[in-house]
Amino acid sequence: MNFDSSILRNDEKIIFTLRALYSRYGYSQYKMSKFEEYDFYGRNKDYLISDRMITFTDTNGKLMALKPDVTLSIIKSIEDDEDSIQKLYYNENVFRASETSGGFKEIMQAGLECIGALKPDDIGQVLQLAALSLKEISDDSILELTHLGIIASIIDSLDITDDSRQGILRCINEKNTDTMAAICSEEKVEPSIADALSRLALLYVDVENAVSEIRNIVNIDALKDNIGLSNAISDFEMCIASLNTDWQEKFGISGMLKVDFSIESDLKYYNGIVFNGFINGIPTTVLSGGQYNKLMQKMGRKSHAIGFAVYLGALERLEIKDEFKPTSNIIVPSEKKFLNVALPKGRLGEKVYDMFARSGFECPSILENNRKLIFENEERQVRYFWAKPSDVQIYVERGAADIGVAGKDILLEYEPDVYELLDLNIGKCRMCVAAPKDFRDNPDRTLKVATKFSNIARSYYASIDREIDIVHLNGSIEIAPILGLTDVIVDIVETGTTLKENDLQVFETIVPISARLIANKASYKFNSEKIMQIQRSISEMVKGDN
Ligand code: PRP
Repeated sequence: MNFDSSILRNDEKIIFTLRALYSRYGYSQYKMSKFEEYDFYGRNKDYLISDRMITFTDTNGKLMALKPDVTLSIIKSIEDDEDSIQKLYYNENVFRASETSGGFKEIMQAGLECIGALKPDDIGQVLQLAALSLKEISDDSILELTHLGIIASIIDSLDITDDSRQGILRCINEKNTDTMAAICSEEKVEPSIADALSRLALLYVDVENAVSEIRNIVNIDALKDNIGLSNAISDFEMCIASLNTDWQEKFGISGMLKVDFSIESDLKYYNGIVFNGFINGIPTTVLSGGQYNKLMQKMGRKSHAIGFAVYLGALERLEIKDEFKPTSNIIVPSEKKFLNVALPKGRLGEKVYDMFARSGFECPSILENNRKLIFENEERQVRYFWAKPSDVQIYVERGAADIGVAGKDILLEYEPDVYELLDLNIGKCRMCVAAPKDFRDNPDRTLKVATKFSNIARSYYASIDREIDIVHLNGSIEIAPILGLTDVIVDIVETGTTLKENDLQVFETIVPISARLIANKASYKFNSEKIMQIQRSISEMVKGDN
C-alpha cells in the first residue's frame, strides 16, 4: 500500500520526520497518560512555564491536573539508574495557559531525554540530534549553545549583591552591555572582568572557534585563579568535541552551530550545556534544551540528564514543500532578505534614521514629505517603517521588524523579550514622581498614583515598600492631581515645562530614560552581520557625541 503523505498536517509531517530521526539514533518512544495528581506539579511548579493548570476532581476525590509538561513525568516514571543510559523520545500533547490569549491551549510537543550516567559524548550526541532536528525541518536554521558554568563561575567570584548578580545575568540575556557596565561600575567590579563579561555577552561565533575565543576573552590576571571557570571551559570543550567541522560537513550543517551566552535558562534547574534552535522566518525559539542535573537532584534523582523539546506550535505558519519526503528537510527556505527596521514616528525617529543612514543603510525616499509609512532601499536591502513609539517593541518582539528603536520607558514598562543592543544617548528624559508643590506624603494612607506606566510605578513603590492605588490613564496625566483624582503622578519629564505650567514639581526621579537599539532575538541570528555593523557604527557615533 502506498502511503499518501499529502493527507498529513504540517505538524504531523514534522513529527513523522523527527520520530524517524530519533529511532535511528536508538531512542524509544515514551507514552504518557493525559493526567497526573495536581500535587506533583504543585511541588515542582517553579520549573513549569506557568503554574496555571486545568484541574478536576477524580472519582476518588483526588485533585488531578491535565499534564502541562512531559519532562517531569518522564523523570518521575523512569528508574533512577546511575549505571546505564536511558534514551527516550516523545510526541505528546500538553495543556498550558496561553500567554497571549489568557485561556488554555493544547500544545503538541516532540522531544527527547537522555538520562543516566552521561559522558561528554552522550551530551555531544544530543546536541547533534538537536542540530539534525532543525536541519530536517529547514536548511536555514541555527542551533546556538552555551555552557552555564562559564558565566556563573565568573559572577560567583564577584563580591556583589544578589540584585546586581540577577541584573548582570539579565543584561547578558539581552546583550545589554550599557546597563551591565553601569552595574559593574556601581559594584566596583574589576574593570578587566567587567570588560570580559561584556565581550562574552556580545559573543556570537561558530562552534569550532568558540573555545579559543572564550579562552582569549577570559585570559586576564583577575580570572587566572578561577578554577570553576577553567573547569567549565574544559567541560564545554569536551562536550562539543563531536560537533567538529568533519561531522558538520558530513551532515550538511556547516555554519549552523553557534555559541552565544545570551541563552536564557533557569540556573535553579539547568547546569552545563544549554541550547536554543531557530529557523529563518520564525520570530521565536523553535527548539530549546539543556542539561538539567539540578532538576534531577531536586526530584531526588541521582542520575544526570539532558534533553530538548521542539515547539511545533511555532512551526504552524511555515510553508511546507509540496513533495514531502521524511528524509529531506521539509520547509520551503525563506525568501526574506530585507532588514526590517521599526522607527519611532516623530522627531526622535528622524534623528534615529539619520544614524542608520550614516551606518550605510540609507533610504533617501524616507525624507520625501508624504504620508507613506513604509520605505525600501532595494540596493541596501533595508526596509524602514514608522510606528507609534510605544508599538516599536511589539513589532520587534514578534519579528515583523528585525530591529528598531524604543525608549527605555517602554522597555521597562512592557519588558519585551528582545535584545537591548545600545543606548543611543538621544531622546533623553527621566521617569519621575511629581505632585502639586504643597504635596506631603501621608504614610498612613494608601498613595493614589496616576500614570501611563503602571508596571514601572508598581515596581518602584514595591521597592520602597509603599502601598499604592494605581489609576491608569492614557495621557494628560498632569491633570489627575490637580483635579484631586490622585495624590501624585508617575510620568516622563523632559524639559519640565509641562509640570511647571501646571504648578507641579518633581518629588523623586525613578530612572533616567533614553532611546535604545533593540533587536528580535531570532532575527539577530540570521542577520547578525548587518545588525552588528549597525550596532558598531552607531556606537562609534554615540561615543563621538560624548
Ligand atoms: C510627555 C509626558 C509629559 C511631557 C513632558 O507627554 O507625559 O506630559 O511629555 O515633557 P516636558 O517635561 O518637556 O514638558 P507626551 O508629549 O508624550 O504626550 P502624552 O501626555 O499625550 O503622552
